[in-house]
Order: sequence, then structure tokens, then C-alpha cells
Amino acid sequence: MLFQSRRIAMFLGLGHMSEGGRTASGGDQSGARGEALGSGGEEGDAPVAATTEEDRSSDEQQLELDRQLAEMKELHLEIEAALRRTEQEHEELERQLMQTQKLEGLGVLAGGIAHDFNNLLMAISGNLELIKHVVGPESPATRYIDNAFIASKRAADLARQMLAYPRKGVNEVKPLDLNRMVGENADLLKASVLKGVKVTAQLQPDLPLLEGDPAHLQQLVINLITNAAEAMGEGGGNVKIATGVAEYGAEQLEKSRLEQKQLPGRYLYLEVADNGCGMDGDTIKRIFDPFFSTKLPGRGLGLTAVQGIVRRHGGAIFVDSEPGAGTTFSVLFPLPLP
Ligand SMILES: Nc1ncnc2c1ncn2[C@@H]1O[C@H](COP(=O)(O)OP(=O)(O)OP(=O)(O)O)[C@@H](O)[C@H]1O
Ligand SMILES: [Mg+2]
Repeated sequence: MLFQSRRIAMFLGLGHMSEGGRTASGGDQSGARGEALGSGGEEGDAPVAATTEEDRSSDEQQLELDRQLAEMKELHLEIEAALRRTEQEHEELERQLMQTQKLEGLGVLAGGIAHDFNNLLMAISGNLELIKHVVGPESPATRYIDNAFIASKRAADLARQMLAYPRKGVNEVKPLDLNRMVGENADLLKASVLKGVKVTAQLQPDLPLLEGDPAHLQQLVINLITNAAEAMGEGGGNVKIATGVAEYGAEQLEKSRLEQKQLPGRYLYLEVADNGCGMDGDTIKRIFDPFFSTKLPGRGLGLTAVQGIVRRHGGAIFVDSEPGAGTTFSVLFPLPLP
């Protein structure tokens, strides 16, 4: 132990711990100490007294060294933890950058396709108008022309929805009634795809209007409800939709699945909860990635669009899920300025 202490002392530059009581400056103190101690006692006592004194000072040095060693160990652990944190932060930033780049790429692609689609659709509907004019209103073909016209209008709506993926989509912002939007879409879905799925809604009355893009918000509501319904097995299940206004603190908002965390305050919320299959941790991490899907034939773009829409509305999005128990998506929107 003493040997180790000496080595540490030398390492720390404490030269006075050298062998035989020699100081770093090279002087021999044993004689002087022997003289002083020997003045009141027997000749033979002096070396014993000197050893005790040396032991005490060596013990103190040992304690001091142990303390310094413990401090260094603690510092080392702190540095290691800080390094690990920095590495994790670096990885997270890289992941976010890749995600942003993927989204930008997807946005450019979707924007280009939507633009070309719109041009083609204008040509189709323009020609349908001409045909209708040529055959006249009495023609039995009019009905079919009208159907084709409606279908091309739907396709134009879809092309507009594709513009919801990029960050810089066409934003047509107006005051919207979130309850009405939820009600209309839930009814629509109830009547079509959701066989065996019970949809209930708890909508807070007199909700403040929301400043948003109607086409994008409709898409958000449909995507969340569709995912909830698709999470049910053969036996069906329950989808609960809720809206309201509530206060959110910094701790909660920090959990938002968007890079930009919103400030604490009051927000409009939309909650879609299901008791379907739920998700494991790995799936939860990846759900907003473009083209990530666990379904056949899933495109993996529904939640990418939802995230883009919430981002553009300056909101927040939370996901809470347990495998086998169900999932709740909560979306927050800022309240309109008074
Ligand atoms: N409510 C939910 N319950 C369980 N898993 C879900 C839920 N919502 C989303 N997921 C998971 O997230 C994945 C991505 O969802 P997303 O809506 O982006 O794509 P998708 O539904 O697979 O395809 P689509 O593009 O047609 O919507 C899903 O494949 C599924 O694994
Ligand atoms: Mg989906």
C-alpha cells in the first residue's frame, strides 16, 4: 500500500514522500528530528519516536491521496457520462438531419408529381366539358361524363393532398371548427371501412376555432382514425375520439414527436385512442419515417403526412402505445390569437 502511495505521490509531484525521510531538496531531516526528540528521552527511544511521527505523516498523506484518487475517479466517471451524452445527442441530431433530408426529397417528389397530375387532370376535365357540350344535355352519355368529371375532381383533391407531405405545401389557412371536421370524417369512415369497429366521440362543446388548412386537417383526421381502425384484429374494437382545450407544461411538450418543441400554455387537442394491437418500442420510434409500414399493403406515408401537417400548424404530437393494449395519438394545435 505504501509502495502504491509512493508511486502516486511521485505521479502527483509530492516529492517529500521519498525513501528514508529525504525531502525533494535532498536534505536529511532524521538527524534534526532525532535531536529534538532525543532531548528529553533515552538515546534508544529516538528511532521509535521518529518512526511513529513518520507513520502519522505517511497516514495523513495516504488519506489525502485516497481522497484525491476518489475525486479523480468521480471526475473520470462524470467525463465518461458527459461523453456518452454528447455521443447520444450527436446520433439523435444525425437521425433528425437524415429524416429532414428524406422529407425534403419526398416533398420535392410529391410536389412535382402533384403538379404534373394537376395539369393532366385539367386537360381531362376540360375535354369532358367539351364532350358534354357536343353531345348535348339530352344525351344518355351525360350521366357518365358527370361521373368521370366527379372522379377527376377527386383526383385533383388527392393531388392537393400530396402537397401536404413537403414542408412548403400550399397552405390555405382559415378558421375551422375541429369538432365539425372530426364529426364529418368519423361519420364518413363509420359508413365505409370500419366494419366491427365502434367509433365514439367526446367533443368539447364551444371549442375555439382553429386556424388551419382544411384539406390538410381533414387528411390528418382520416389518417389517424384509419390507422386506429386498422390496428384492430378480427374481433373489431373501439376508437375513441376526443377534442378539447387544455393546459400543457414544458415537461409534457418536451415529449412531442417534432423537432420544434412548443412553449407551455393552452392548446386545442385532438385525441384518437384505440384498443388495437399497440406497438413495441422499435415501431414507435419509426412510425413517422417515410415509407415505414408494418402493414400489407401499407404505404407508410399516413403518419409522415400527419407529422408534416402538425409541424406546419405549429403544433405538437404525442404517441402513447402498449403492445396488445392499444394506442393513443394526441395532436395539439395552438389557439388562435385573441
Ligand atoms: N393506431 C395504431 N396502432 C398500431 N400501430 C400503428 C397505429 N398507427 C400507426 N401504426 C404503425 O405505424 C406504421 C406507419 O403508419 P402510417 O399511417 O404512416 O403507414 P401505414 O398505415 O402502414 O400505411 P398508409 O401510408 O397507407 O397509411 C403502421 O404501419 C403501423 O405499424
Ligand atoms: Mg396509415
